[in-house]
Amino acid sequence: MTAHAERILIIDFGSQVTQLIARRVREAGVFCEIKPFNALGDGLTAPGLKGIILSGGPASVGDEGSPRAPQQVFELGVPVLGICYGQMCMVTQLGGVAAGSTEREFGRAFVTMKANSPLFEGMAASGEKEEVWMSHGDRVTELPPGFEVIGSSPNAPFAAFANVSQGFYGVMFHPEVVHTPRGATLLNNFVRGIAGCAGQWTMAAYKDEAIAAICQQVGPEGRVICGLSGGVDSSVAAVLIHEAIGDRLTCVFVDTGMMRHGEADEVVTMFRDTYNIKLIHRDASDLFIDALEGVEDPEVKRKTIGRLFIDVFDEAATESGGADFLAQGTLYPDVIESVSATGGPSVTIKSHHNVGGLPERMKMSLVEPLRSLFKDEVRVLGQELGLPENFVGRHPFPGPGLAIRIPGKITREKLNTLRAADRIYLDEIRKAGLYDTIWQAFAVLLPVKTVGVMGDGRTYDHVCALRAVTSTDGMTADYYPYPHDFLGRTANRIINEVNGINRVVYDITSKPPGTIEWE
Ligand code: XMP
Repeated sequence: MTAHAERILIIDFGSQVTQLIARRVREAGVFCEIKPFNALGDGLTAPGLKGIILSGGPASVGDEGSPRAPQQVFELGVPVLGICYGQMCMVTQLGGVAAGSTEREFGRAFVTMKANSPLFEGMAASGEKEEVWMSHGDRVTELPPGFEVIGSSPNAPFAAFANVSQGFYGVMFHPEVVHTPRGATLLNNFVRGIAGCAGQWTMAAYKDEAIAAICQQVGPEGRVICGLSGGVDSSVAAVLIHEAIGDRLTCVFVDTGMMRHGEADEVVTMFRDTYNIKLIHRDASDLFIDALEGVEDPEVKRKTIGRLFIDVFDEAATESGGADFLAQGTLYPDVIESVSATGGPSVTIKSHHNVGGLPERMKMSLVEPLRSLFKDEVRVLGQELGLPENFVGRHPFPGPGLAIRIPGKITREKLNTLRAADRIYLDEIRKAGLYDTIWQAFAVLLPVKTVGVMGDGRTYDHVCALRAVTSTDGMTADYYPYPHDFLGRTANRIINEVNGINRVVYDITSKPPGTIEWE
């Protein structure tokens, strides 16, 4: 059986956390896709459909024109799980009654189990309470025929219900969020137990499938060019494609001069020497630094870097003899079409990629072997491919690199100063064993000089800000609560060892309202 042989369809009604449902289902070893309720494509008809999950959403079933699932969903003979708004759709579409309510319920709640349901296997038994995260405005007043209550809370008498013979289940709470501590068990019960998926979606299986798919797409003669950034996605994509087509892959690494200390060397050593991948290394740092001279506006920095990157990449690719395909490390969150709060389809393509114009310019077909994966799956795939831990576990690093960590004008001297401080900071993080707990950490060199005293002398140097956040996807983030002794030790080292910095501050802004980067 292949990794994709069975699948769960998640119908999206626009909840903020629909992606989390997909992640939990994948963690249960089952492939799943998210499709907007009004653009299901072949979601209901393609082979392998084992179950359907209806997501939450911002609408109320009482609103005129509020979204519904296609009625066919309930006629296919596959189990269906409705979550929150999805549960309300299930109720109204199957002949029950649900309506908007003025009493909304948000936050932690306890559901008393009313049955030993297969949905709650390994969770609280009948009569016991289960902690859950509620977030709903609608209320069920009458269950559809054939349904029974399997869980209730004081505010939500129909918190969970089921039609066991048809495999239809509804929960008013969100099993996909961490605030429902055993929510992952519930989703696992649905996809593995109730929907009967074998759970063969592993990265080992995916790897073989992806290699076969690359070979088929590229053909026996096709050549692929792949930009390496030193980040996880492009590294994993490159190694995977190399396993598929060997020497017909050429990688291009453009050193923008905006990389961290030692990173450029690491990339070259790893791919050329360890993996024996054909690699063109362009040290274009002078070109980039000169072009950025005097530029202060962050967006102009981004655009300048993006434009130059495409020029350099294109030139290197052409010199190497060209290729038929351009590889990109696009991930699943970038391709999911999400539903907007108004119910209309809105294609959200998060494009932080500063090289977004590359495919148009290069006029090549794309090879995107990571298109169906989440970031954490890419890391596991990287491990499967034998990439070392320090590569697969890497913090994200923005395309414009250090350029957006030096607010104001960029100079070679400032870049060197920042690199030295950042190196010490990351070294201390690793020594303290914190690297993997933190989602992203970096130093910022501020365009502010302050007075200090060192030995008997006065100093007048730059301020360095340290940033560290926890996050799951970079969309929201909390600052990392370092112990004071860690901050003290790191600040001391930076001030003592780096010329040009005499003061260190720690950024305790979360996102929102801040962003992770300073620019
Ligand atoms: P912000 O600063 O928007 O960052 O909270 C969220 C995540 O995106 C990264 N980031 C970028 N990545 N090009 C990139 O490739 C960019 O221009 C860019 N700006 C921010 C940031 O490092 C964080 O991981």
